[in-house]
Amino acid sequence: MSKYDRVYQQSLAQPENFWAQAAQDILWRRQWDQVLDSSNAPYYRWFRGGELNICENALDRHVNEGRGEQLALIYDSPVTATKATYTYRALRDEVARVAGVLKSLGVTKGDRVIIYMPMVPEAVMSMLACARLGAVHSVVFGGFAAAELAARIDDAKPRVILSASGALEHGKAIAYKPLLDHAIEMATSKPSACVILQRPFLTAAMVSGRDHDWAEAVAVAPMVDCVSVSALDPCYILYTSGTTGHPKGIVRDTGGHAVALKWSMRAVYDVGPGDVFWAASDVGWVVGHSYIVYGPLLQGCTTVLYEGKPVGTPDAGAYWRVISEYKVRALFTAPTAFRAIRRDDHEALLMQKYDLTSLRTLFLAGERSDPATLEWAERHLKVPVIDHWWQTETGWAIVANCIGLGALPVKHGSPTKAVPGWDVQVLDEGGHSVERGQIGSLVCRLPLPPGTLPTLWNDDARFFDSYLKDFPGYYKTADAGLIDSDGYVYVMARTDDVINVAGHRLSTGVMEEALSALPDVAESAVIGCRDAIKGEVPLGFLVLKAHCKRSETEIAHDAVAIVRDRVGPVAAFKTAIVVKRLPKTRSGKSFEVQLRRSPMAKHLNASDNR
Ligand code: COA
Ligand code: AMP
Repeated sequence: MSKYDRVYQQSLAQPENFWAQAAQDILWRRQWDQVLDSSNAPYYRWFRGGELNICENALDRHVNEGRGEQLALIYDSPVTATKATYTYRALRDEVARVAGVLKSLGVTKGDRVIIYMPMVPEAVMSMLACARLGAVHSVVFGGFAAAELAARIDDAKPRVILSASGALEHGKAIAYKPLLDHAIEMATSKPSACVILQRPFLTAAMVSGRDHDWAEAVAVAPMVDCVSVSALDPCYILYTSGTTGHPKGIVRDTGGHAVALKWSMRAVYDVGPGDVFWAASDVGWVVGHSYIVYGPLLQGCTTVLYEGKPVGTPDAGAYWRVISEYKVRALFTAPTAFRAIRRDDHEALLMQKYDLTSLRTLFLAGERSDPATLEWAERHLKVPVIDHWWQTETGWAIVANCIGLGALPVKHGSPTKAVPGWDVQVLDEGGHSVERGQIGSLVCRLPLPPGTLPTLWNDDARFFDSYLKDFPGYYKTADAGLIDSDGYVYVMARTDDVINVAGHRLSTGVMEEALSALPDVAESAVIGCRDAIKGEVPLGFLVLKAHCKRSETEIAHDAVAIVRDRVGPVAAFKTAIVVKRLPKTRSGKSFEVQLRRSPMAKHLNASDNR
């Protein structure tokens, strides 16, 4: 029996023993009373009674154990021509001061703090400073528009918002502050204070009495210590797209999160203290939370924070430069980044300029890895390329080739097998198991392992309806797929109205809501359309009102503008087509909506990519 098989079986046969063992790697301030509390099934809780501080585990612990001078964070920003490094000691001290700023603004345990920041070290410090105080952070990705930020403010009701004057995108300064001001204006819930990081290329106007300058506030702030936090208390809320326009506030608890992420660093990624780990994502996404910030720091690694793109900053050799410069051992990114690099440098000529011998593994996730891109990466990098499947909700991998447990043979198109802790099944619409090889809904038997969502913020009912209702006893992933006769899982498509644009998860419903605000539009439908680089891009269909006098070109232009304005540039909504009518099913639903919900339709689309 392979090591993977043995560990996997242990994890399902005796989950409490398994995770209690993994929890020994975490520094607890109070030992838990119960490993798994099943008394309120299907709502399960891990490590009830335990107390810890996740920031202490990510920073202070390493300093206290003698790794204070080791690098914790490398900031590399080709867009601003800046590089900076922080040892564990330096990062701990900075975070303690940012916690001091928050405390002086009245933030205490349980308060929410929204972080609306680009990829700067202060974003990481902000997250950890909240964790230090037991405050709940909610990071909002910078590419979302003011209305999306306002929706998150109204749901999370933050006491304080941490933000920056702006970011540089494609050489242009994108001002964040006017978007923040507008969002606060739109929101019903108002923060009592904002702390704004002024970036050298853009100065934000401050609102007197509410806004504080980051540098000035940190300079005079006291250093604040870690507080004890219940294992069950939320560490963060991260909003993600669902079927409706209203985003879902995924809650991450503190104890299970720390245990699962630390365990995954060795088992899934095979990295240990001192190794350089680079997740080329954004702190606004779950990959950034788990594998730029918490996972690598809990494990004592050096994490890389890269403010740039895979191409154009300045070229398709950017990733290779970073790997060679910092001796990156494991790189984690989305397939779309490799599609962009391959498009610009098909023969990987730029790779030859750099020494990539430090790199042991490339991990891909966030969207389906098309075999052509995966093979290209394998051929040129000459290291294992590991596809793995997970979601904002799960916080870490459901299915992967766990190289820390001994790599399994790769089958292109499959992220390999269920990770220990996960019992993945394929069910038909009636909730019955399908035969091996048949497509159905991918579900995970409850209880889920630690580190996964216990609920949605302030919305237990939506949590139940979205994930637990359709298949009693299971968590519904909303992905369709199959498991083959060797136990390899294949993830084919979403079963809801979520599309995946450049590894970013977006709701078509939210775009349709934006389009419905156009005065000339009677009806609209947005579907995901195959794109060579981004995987999918949205495509809008508009039916105009009978009296409409304006040209179709003008209205299509307005449609693109309103989605950008209300959802944000991240939606990459560039095309709208005026049609006479939307094909309807007999029940009145638009045909596109039906098509997009059909796993088989997406399956056919996905296999075209091969
Ligand atoms: N703040 C403000 N705007 C942002 C932003 C941010 N933090 N991040 C992106 N945007 C804007 C971009 O400028 C772009 O706007 P545009 O329409 O004016 O060009 C839009 O949002 C879409 O951004 P992006 O998805 O980054 O597309 P791109 O065309 O700029 O780059 C790729 C394409 C493939 C290079 C890019 O998507 C990429 O690097 N993907 C890597 C995968 C990844 O990080 N996935 C995250 C999950 S793991
Ligand atoms: P997010 O919550 O943004 O991480 O997006 C999660 C969704 O991305 C999943 O439900 C899948 O639809 C898709 N996804 C993530 N990783 C993979 C993968 N390795 N293969 C196929 N789809 C993936």
